[in-house]
Amino acid sequence: MSRRVVYFNGQYIAESEARVSIFDSALMSGDMAFEMTRTYCQQPFRLKEHLDRLYASLRLLEIDCGMPQAEMERITRDLLERNLPTEAADMDWQIMHDVSRGPLDIYRTTFPDGIRPTISINCWPLVTHTGGFAAKYDSGVHLVIPAQQTLPGHLVDPKAKTRSRVHYQMAIMQANRMGPGRWAALLDPDGFLSEGPGWNMFLVKNGELLTPEPRNILLGVSRATTMELAEQLGITVREGNYGRYEALMADEIFCTATSYALVHATTFEGQLVGDGQPGPVYRRLVEAWKQLVGVDFIAQAYGYARRLPEWERAQLSTIEGSRT
Ligand SMILES: Cc1ncc(COP(=O)(O)O)c(C=O)c1O
Repeated sequence: MSRRVVYFNGQYIAESEARVSIFDSALMSGDMAFEMTRTYCQQPFRLKEHLDRLYASLRLLEIDCGMPQAEMERITRDLLERNLPTEAADMDWQIMHDVSRGPLDIYRTTFPDGIRPTISINCWPLVTHTGGFAAKYDSGVHLVIPAQQTLPGHLVDPKAKTRSRVHYQMAIMQANRMGPGRWAALLDPDGFLSEGPGWNMFLVKNGELLTPEPRNILLGVSRATTMELAEQLGITVREGNYGRYEALMADEIFCTATSYALVHATTFEGQLVGDGQPGPVYRRLVEAWKQLVGVDFIAQAYGYARRLPEWERAQLSTIEGSRT
């Protein structure tokens, strides 16, 4: 058993003990809002922005979780403090919030204490996430356009971060069929670039940053951070409707997301982006990101990659040990 603890419906319990009911609305309908925050130097990065988005998602889903945002923040920080000692001091963390409407009312007899929203928060060492990702900072990623499109905002608003993600899963599988490890860049039903299944997208053309307007996308915290940094660096940012054509003509393309911050695209639809190497605008932004967060997160990811096999062995042997 790992020594990590999670917050689950009012209690701190062992990670392995946390169970969401099979009658939960999250499982029945994907009816759950969530957030993924990460730490840099063991401090949550932009936690307020992530929790603002969580509460916005809950409002859209009409879920009253019964916990004020300030309390959610207090518990989040407390939970992280409880988990930090389980890893080395240079370990950064993922913090995951999951909030659902709770079990469906029809099953209420199974819950004699009453039905209430399910709230869970967990902390997981980033060694698996960015360790597994590290090589992509050099190789870049290969973007393709899958048949699956983004859900348009007038049907299901992608600004809410929910567990209703089958369309993203379809996009991932379709992209993989187009080539192993390809990343899906989804178009919206109007034929404009929107986002990937877990990331936002930027094009660079003539030194300017172009990014899909905030219509059919999740408003990524890393997207906002990148736009702020660009502004500080004097790089013009334009939000607009960009299609396959603009991406094929772009000098650079990169993706942003919480766990890895940003990564460049080597190809788009099978064609080299620029010379296939990280471009000058991307490189300036990477440096600005490192300054902002106070960590060379690329070197950190490579460090985690080296430690990952041993880390996984140790986790497994702890589980084996607790079974005997
Ligand atoms: C669909 C989608 N778009 C974009 C993002 C990037 O958002 P952030 O930068 O806040 O991680 C995510 C993150 O999970 C996502 O799921």
